[in-house]
Order: sequence, then C-alpha cells, then structure tokens
Amino acid sequence: MEISFWVLRRSVPPAAGKFTQNSGGIFAVLGNTSRTAPVGNLHQRLKQRLDDRTAAGNRRQLTVAGSLADFCSNDYLGLARSEALRQRIAARAQAMPLPNGATGSRLISGNSAYALETEVALARLFRAESALLFASGYAANSAVLSVVPQAGDVVFCDQLIHASLREGARLSDAERRYFRHNDLDDLEEQLRGLRGNGFAGEIFVVAESVYSMDGDFGPLADLLGLGDRYDAHLVWDEAHSTGLWGEGGSGLACWLGLHDRIFARIYTFGKAMGGHGACVAGSRVLTDYLVNFARAFIYTTALPPHSLVSIRESFGFLAEHPTLQSEIGRKIRLFRATLAGGTLPGAMSEPEPLSQSPIQILKVGGNEPTKALAHALQRAGFDVRPILAPTVRAGEERLRICLHVHNRDEEIIQLAGLLHEWKSGDSTEQEPEYGSG
Ligand SMILES: Cc1ncc(COP(=O)(O)O)c(C=O)c1O
Repeated sequence: MEISFWVLRRSVPPAAGKFTQNSGGIFAVLGNTSRTAPVGNLHQRLKQRLDDRTAAGNRRQLTVAGSLADFCSNDYLGLARSEALRQRIAARAQAMPLPNGATGSRLISGNSAYALETEVALARLFRAESALLFASGYAANSAVLSVVPQAGDVVFCDQLIHASLREGARLSDAERRYFRHNDLDDLEEQLRGLRGNGFAGEIFVVAESVYSMDGDFGPLADLLGLGDRYDAHLVWDEAHSTGLWGEGGSGLACWLGLHDRIFARIYTFGKAMGGHGACVAGSRVLTDYLVNFARAFIYTTALPPHSLVSIRESFGFLAEHPTLQSEIGRKIRLFRATLAGGTLPGAMSEPEPLSQSPIQILKVGGNEPTKALAHALQRAGFDVRPILAPTVRAGEERLRICLHVHNRDEEIIQLAGLLHEWKSGDSTEQEPEYGSG
C-alpha cells in the first residue's frame, strides 16, 4: 500500500534504500549506500574475467552481420531471407485471427487449437507418434536430458554434443559419462563394462545428426546397433539436418528410415528452416511426460502464434521447393572440389549425397591466427567467422564456413580457392591479406 501510494505521487522523494526514478521514468530499488562496495567488487570480478578473455584473444562481442557474403549463418536453404516465404507467412498470418502473443505457458493460457494442430503436423512430418513444441532447440534439448534420465541411470554423451545437451545432462540426476567423438569402439567398451558389471538401470546415448562445430555426421545406424546390443536409448539431435535431408525436410533419421528406432528426436526450426523454435518427436508417453515434468516446457511462455505460422509455412514452402535440398548438395560439392584443388567435373559427379554437410571446417589452431585468417577473408568480402576456444578445444580453433543456396557459385569458388591457397601454404604472410583492406 505504502509503495503504490508513493509510486502514484511521484513528487514524494524516495527514502534511502527504497525507490528512485531514472531519467526514463522507471523506478528501481536502491540498496542503502553501504551496499555499493560489494557491487563494485562484483563488477571488478566480472571485469577481471572479461579482461582475461581479452588477454586470451577470445572475448566474445556482439556484431551485426553487414553486407558481406553470408558464409556464417545457419540459413542453409535461404529460407530466412526468402521474400516468397516472407509473403506466404504474412498472408497466412493475415488470414487467421491470431493474437499477437501466446499470453502464457502452454499449460495456462498459451495453448491453442493451432498449436495442437501444428504438433500433429510435425508428428506426421517426422513420422513420430507425437511431437511437442519448445521455444528453442536449447530448451528442448535441456528439457529432455534434465528430466528423462533419472538417478541410477547413466547418460553417455558424445564428446562434441551441443552445449544445450550438456546442460540438460548436467541438470539430470543421472550419472553423466563421455565417449570420444563418433568413436563406436570407445562407446562400446564403456557400455560393455557397465552392463558387464550387472548394471540394470536405463542407459541413454546422446548424439547428433550433424555436429555443429565440426560439420560431420553422427553414425546413426551403428549407434542404434549398439543401443540394441546394450539396451540403451538414443537421444538424437537433428538441429543441423532438419530441412536439409528427408522428404519435406524431415531430417536425417527419416531419410535413412531409422526414425522408428530412436527414443527421442529433437528438431529445430531456427537453422535450415529459417525461423525459430523446436520440437521433440517420439512416443506419446515421452511427450506427455515432458508436459508434466520438463521445466523448460512448463515454466515458460509458449511460442507466439506468428512463430507457429512461420514453422508451418516454412515446411509447406520447402515441400513445394524440394530442389533446395539438391541445390545445397551441389554447392557443398562445388566448395569441396575447389578446396581440394580438384577439377569440377569429377567432383561434381561425386555420387554419395551424404558425403558432406553445409558446415565446412578449416582447422587453423590458436585464437589469433584463426581470427587473423577470418578477418582477412572478411576484408575480401566473405563473412566467415572464427570459432575459438573455449567453444572448441584449445588448439582446435577453426573457421566454420557455412554454405547456402544463396552463395553464388563464383563466390564459393573464390572463397574455396583462397582457402586452398592458405592450406597449401602459398601465402607467405602470417596474416594472409586476401582482400584489398
Ligand atoms: C546441435 C545443436 N543443437 C541445438 C541447438 C540449439 O537450437 P536453438 O538455436 O533452436 O536453441 C543448436 C544451436 O546452435 C545446435 O547447434
């Protein structure tokens, strides 16, 4: 009562330790003056960590993508920039009486017939019994791993799984172990050891269709084989394959016909689909369980209706433009052929459609050399970003080159040619000055 009375009568000066008003008319709680020092110390501590990053050459900064050729976004199929899709989404949204926001969590006011229909459509697309929407892939991954494995269970994570999966596994009461990246022998040895010792709990194996910082594929069929042998359930992240493979963009597992054997699949819509959001696909029991126990589902505002329209229409658009998938495959082969210094006709007839993903890696090593190479390429007009430690292991710093359908063939040939030169050691400078500066 006392507070609201004072807020209404702004002319009354706030007492120390109560409320004050900043220049924007916003009221903030003030501590009494004796609390200034600890806050100062805290800032000092935070600043010290930032300074450490600056000294190590890996301080993260927000930048705005400019007019350079896009070789860094996850918009592999160009859907985020598609004018035709933008108009399609706008027309659909216009035709529907949708509120501007979800207004609450799915369990309170944020559910709608349209959200439920969207989940039915996604379950059909991903050939699952059920699908459950999440606000992001990060939320979906951490939700599944934090609450499905329980105390007494063991989660085996590929060493290179995404931060969101690690986060989920860390939050879980299950024991967490790692196996070497894509190393089936290492995984099998650990599984054999565990089951050989009579372990009777649930075992989960966590892997990805395409690894985001390496661009290589998880060995799905072999992982499922091990799962069968050692009674382990696979949690499979399709973030970087959603849209790129499979009918209508249904991803790698569906394309390989192995979807039925996977316990939980996570699809995201912020990468090749050009939008935002994610879903978990699996059994009805799994999605019902997540509705009841996954905090990242329960305690957050649902995706806004406009995002749902965007998800539906982007899959509709992709189904009508299936050549986008073959076109990205062609761009990948063109890049790789040029990078290898190969001749185009031979490389273009490369038969294996699954040979590569749109994420191409060039390991440089060291924060400064990696940044220097990226900056040189940026000066030459290519938006290529360095991936530094600690995002990747120290010594494995790299360029992460993402290919897109909107990258012109000449741009790809030029960029891959420059990188080929760099790889061959043709550049004598430490910082190759490819551009005019
Ligand atoms: C492999 C992988 N999984 C999950 C995510 C998270 O997805 P989202 O961006 O939708 O949160 C990412 C995003 O970087 C990713 O690379």
